[in-house]
Amino acid sequence: MLANTLELVSAARRCGIAVAAFNTYSLELTQAIVQAAEQLNQPVILQLGVASMKAGGEPLVKATVIAAQRASIPVAVHLDHCAERGMIEQCLAWGCSSALADGSHLSFAENVSLARDAVRMATAHQATIEAELGYLAGMEDGVTVEALRASLTDPEQAGEFVAATGVSMLAVAIGNVHGYTPQPPPLDFDLLARIAARVDVPLTLHGASGLGKESIQRAIALGVAKINVNTEVRTAFLSAIAAWGQRFGPTPDLRKKGQDWFDLMREAIAAAQVVVAEHIRTAGMLET
Ligand code: 13P
Ligand code: ZN
Ligand code: NA
Repeated sequence: MLANTLELVSAARRCGIAVAAFNTYSLELTQAIVQAAEQLNQPVILQLGVASMKAGGEPLVKATVIAAQRASIPVAVHLDHCAERGMIEQCLAWGCSSALADGSHLSFAENVSLARDAVRMATAHQATIEAELGYLAGMEDGVTVEALRASLTDPEQAGEFVAATGVSMLAVAIGNVHGYTPQPPPLDFDLLARIAARVDVPLTLHGASGLGKESIQRAIALGVAKINVNTEVRTAFLSAIAAWGQRFGPTPDLRKKGQDWFDLMREAIAAAQVVVAEHIRTAGMLET
């Protein structure tokens, strides 16, 4: 059933665990995520990024919402990393449970203004707003240690930000990075503890791909109640497609067993599900 994001995340926090949120790009990835969660009998969050929104628009959002409604477990549908007020309003009107009003690259005042506007829109839809303070830096060459530090979430500001905006979840930058990094980036757990001490809403941890189980679980113990996973699931799905392509070449014989569209998708879905299930277990299981 379609779930309220804040209810899922709050319930997880009460139990000392997190809800895993996975980015989806297509119906097949949505099926992979929902079926893996159903097999474990755990709630889950499906996320659509702005690029997916632009590519798939209303049909993609509505298909995702319908998939959530039909699921046997609670599933929330979330708009990920969006700085456009119009797109947030549109997604909430199409049935999304929540959105990340992402003003992390804006000034503090502009970030507050975006988050406030989003909270106002969400109230009309019983929806939930996540915001982000500090931003996830890349680990590319040229990023100095100082620049990396400056991008981390400031605990004092975080308290002020949440009080000023009324957001229900806050994404933190504590050294986590988007994408798969061969070496897990070191997280600043002391900083996370100081943020958690000043912020009373659940915290969210982006960039879970490549972080490793231990870091994720330590962050959850300190107040993170939603973890975001994108790259690892997408890579598993695409690798399965690539392997299938290697086996059958560019013109598979669709009349032959194992070479049909659905055989390909079944393999890609199964590969994605392994990663989804792993992250749901890492985030922690509700007793159901
Ligand atoms: P990863 O790609 O590192 O898993 O990050 C996902 C994310 O933060 C989506 O918002
Ligand atoms: Zn993210
Ligand atoms: Na990552």
